[in-house]
Amino acid sequence: MRPARHPHPQAARSSGSHSDQGNLGWWRQAVTYQVYVRSFQDSDGDGVGDLGGVRQRLPYLRSLGVDAIWLNPFFPSPQHDHGYDVADYLDVDPQYGTLEGFDALVRDAHRLDIKVLIDVVPNHCSIEHAWFTAAVAAGPGSPERGRFHFADGRGAQGELPPNNWRSIFGGPAWRRIIEPDGTPGQWYLHTFAEEQADFNWRHPAVPAYFEEVLRFWFDRGVDGLRIDVAHGLHKQEGLPDHDSALDDELTGDPNNPHAWNQLEVHDVWRRWRAIADWYTASTGHERVLIGEVGVLDTAELAAYQRPDELHQSFFFEFLRTPWDVEQLRSVIDRGRLTVAATGSPVAWVLNNHDMPRVVTRYAGGAPGGPVGDIELGLSRARAAALLMLALPGSAFIYQGEELGLPEVTDLPEHLLTDPMFHRTAGARRGRDGCRVPLPWDSGRDALGFSPEPAAATTWLPQPDWFGYHAVDRQLESGESMLHLYREAIALRRRVPGITQGEFRWLPTEPGVLAFMRGDGFACVVNCSSRPVCMPVDGHVLHASKAEVGEKLPPDSAAWLLVRACDE
Ligand code: GLC
Repeated sequence: MRPARHPHPQAARSSGSHSDQGNLGWWRQAVTYQVYVRSFQDSDGDGVGDLGGVRQRLPYLRSLGVDAIWLNPFFPSPQHDHGYDVADYLDVDPQYGTLEGFDALVRDAHRLDIKVLIDVVPNHCSIEHAWFTAAVAAGPGSPERGRFHFADGRGAQGELPPNNWRSIFGGPAWRRIIEPDGTPGQWYLHTFAEEQADFNWRHPAVPAYFEEVLRFWFDRGVDGLRIDVAHGLHKQEGLPDHDSALDDELTGDPNNPHAWNQLEVHDVWRRWRAIADWYTASTGHERVLIGEVGVLDTAELAAYQRPDELHQSFFFEFLRTPWDVEQLRSVIDRGRLTVAATGSPVAWVLNNHDMPRVVTRYAGGAPGGPVGDIELGLSRARAAALLMLALPGSAFIYQGEELGLPEVTDLPEHLLTDPMFHRTAGARRGRDGCRVPLPWDSGRDALGFSPEPAAATTWLPQPDWFGYHAVDRQLESGESMLHLYREAIALRRRVPGITQGEFRWLPTEPGVLAFMRGDGFACVVNCSSRPVCMPVDGHVLHASKAEVGEKLPPDSAAWLLVRACDE
């Protein structure tokens, strides 16, 4: 089905300079770099990253070799959840820049052949969004309240929440408002923070509004959307109690069958896909949709990327898998055999802005807990990078992953900003530790994150040891994580066998993963703690440790060009 409206004239202009006919399907094996704008690069010295900073650093991203960037939300927002509480979907928060600055960023990125994906947040908006303030003002039963989930409370005075759902960030999923006449009144649903009100997707104004949002950004030339909480949106009619919820449950059940993963949500993705495809067909500039889908069942995840729905959905099972050979083998097979069976390849991911960084996870560390064995974590993360980048599909790299940044596990509590930390009274440490501003230059103020002289401190403090991981230092050492990533991404472009060959497991000794892509390329990963023999004969193209030779050291990986039998 075609969307009714024609694209804005600007679309013709932007697509004219960015037609990728002949490059359709680029996303199938793309490497996309996730930019957490707030922590990437500050261009105006306020200690907070911004779009101008992203623009300045495009040459760095070009030299890293990525195909695309995904920008975390930069829209006007009171920042209770760092931009995932959107107050206006059609503008840029002054802290992050301007719409003109956004256009300039897209233009420059396209000139460097880097695609730009933005983050759309359709499950909820900020309570400062004009629709929500209008709903509060309009009173119970009004059409304005119909666009959200307002309900009367239980109990004699309506003093209890309308149902027993818990917020994903902790505490009840409901907040009571004060009505315009000054009395305690109705409650509204917030599956995340109380400053994030859930939209009522059964109200026709809501889907219609978001279709306008899509067109607005596609008309500005964006190449795709990362869709927040894509398993959310609709709630079961009548908002029934969740049978197995406990009153003292710390956070909400991500599998609450009444709150998540309702069948109707697939109609929304079909409709959005039709819009994206319409833009692709009529401008020759492909637009893609990638979902953050929080369902635990692999087959259900795959359903979101059926051919007429989202192009891809992040494969978080890979991210959640520990450094264990059998678990890795089995998660890779689930991805290949269940997700990719939809016809769309797997979107592999090791890190993002919601999870402790992979170095720390593999090191046995945790936010607010032990630092872990960082050397070990780093070795494994290097090997995992080569593993991920050799698997069939696309890969998403989260900023700082290419520097091997560990999690900052010991940020002082009084500086933590994550609503999850506050709503669980500190029981969940939250996600600040993977969001610390990037170290660019070990010799400069704020490690080069802010311009000199830095007027303000960085919004989260950079620990002293961050300088050790700074980009300038990594550029000096051929063995740095940055070089490992750059070389691997460059090889993916140069050696077609890495991304195109048929996947086939190779027999190995215990503790080792090895697979071929086609007949010419192999990836071997040693997850064990002893050196192992290479299971296949070939020339080492790239390796995560310098000592790789006939033997593969513990916690390392190698890429091989395999010799034909008659050589
Ligand atoms: C997604 C985002 C996360 C945010 C949440 C609520 O999970 O990745 O950062 O807090 O949605 O919008």
